[in-house]
Amino acid sequence: MTGSIDLRSDTVTRPTAAMRRAIAAAEVGDDQYGEDPSVLALEEEVAGLFSREKAIFTPTGIMATQILLRALVAPGDEVVCESSAHVVAYEAGAAAINAQVQFRTVDGDRGRLDADHLEASLRPVGFPNTEVGAISVEETTNRGGGAVYGLERLVALRAIADGREVPLHGDGARLWNALAATGEDPAAVGATFTAFSVCLSKGLGAPVGSLAVGDAAVIAEARRWRRRFGGAMRQAGVLAAAGSYALQHHRERLVEDHANARAIATTVAEAHPGSLDPDEVTTNIVYVPTGTRPAAEVMAALAEQGILVGAMGPHLLRLVTHLDVDAAACVRAAEALARALDGR
Ligand SMILES: Cc1ncc(COP(=O)(O)O)c(C=O)c1O
Repeated sequence: MTGSIDLRSDTVTRPTAAMRRAIAAAEVGDDQYGEDPSVLALEEEVAGLFSREKAIFTPTGIMATQILLRALVAPGDEVVCESSAHVVAYEAGAAAINAQVQFRTVDGDRGRLDADHLEASLRPVGFPNTEVGAISVEETTNRGGGAVYGLERLVALRAIADGREVPLHGDGARLWNALAATGEDPAAVGATFTAFSVCLSKGLGAPVGSLAVGDAAVIAEARRWRRRFGGAMRQAGVLAAAGSYALQHHRERLVEDHANARAIATTVAEAHPGSLDPDEVTTNIVYVPTGTRPAAEVMAALAEQGILVGAMGPHLLRLVTHLDVDAAACVRAAEALARALDGR
């Protein structure tokens, strides 16, 4: 909402003036003929960034995940993921309908699968056990408070996937945040996944778009599924240009969002010791327990002051920092939140 401090999600950003100029100047063509230079450039740029063979532009993160799961997993097979993963919790059952897979969920730590626990949870191989079709991880974890797996944990999970001869799928909606937080090499991290998605419309601040990334054969198959799912666009270069702009200009600043999130967590923790651990806030998502006060009440009190946050449970709020909220706005929001938690 204009004029408010909107911390409900990092998806609420609006294109900047410079991004709008990039959109206006975009060269376009029919992408179904392979003739949109801006889409082709974006796909090449993202594949190159991760040293992978191919990337494909999709309208949404959900579509990128769905086409990858459809390309990687046989219908009826099981995708193993953490219990709170976006793919199982927040996609309106898309994977059952579109990717035609079923899930096996495993509890983890802040949304992250633990290698040992995962290995112990996998079903045995052989009839009549449901086949494990893929392992899916989210980097960073949304419901886990933006927790980062990091390279070492991803390598361990890939080893388990390889041991079972199944793909490791990555939901990288906020992979950019993970890379900004760890400073790890995108190519090394990208190599851990058989195939993965990245979003342009979250921390990077583009209005629309995600990409699915992987080997040429997987992405060729994903391209067929994008078409079947109705996600094959035409002069999509106007959108891709926003994505390229975001990649070039908004990646490095993600660390500012992380510092702002940490500052919010620190202010709340100082006012309400033990309510949350600021050290756990390593990217741009902060979960705040509201104690005995209903989250809806705290949310309403903040909304009256023009501060928007999300309720993620009866006593749990979520704040997500992004391009459209600066450090001063985050300080204001954090102080108001600390007061609202006390009913002041
Ligand atoms: C972890 C994660 N994966 C996937 C998505 C889906 O992205 P989209 O809304 O672009 O479909 C989201 C959206 O917030 C997300 O947080």
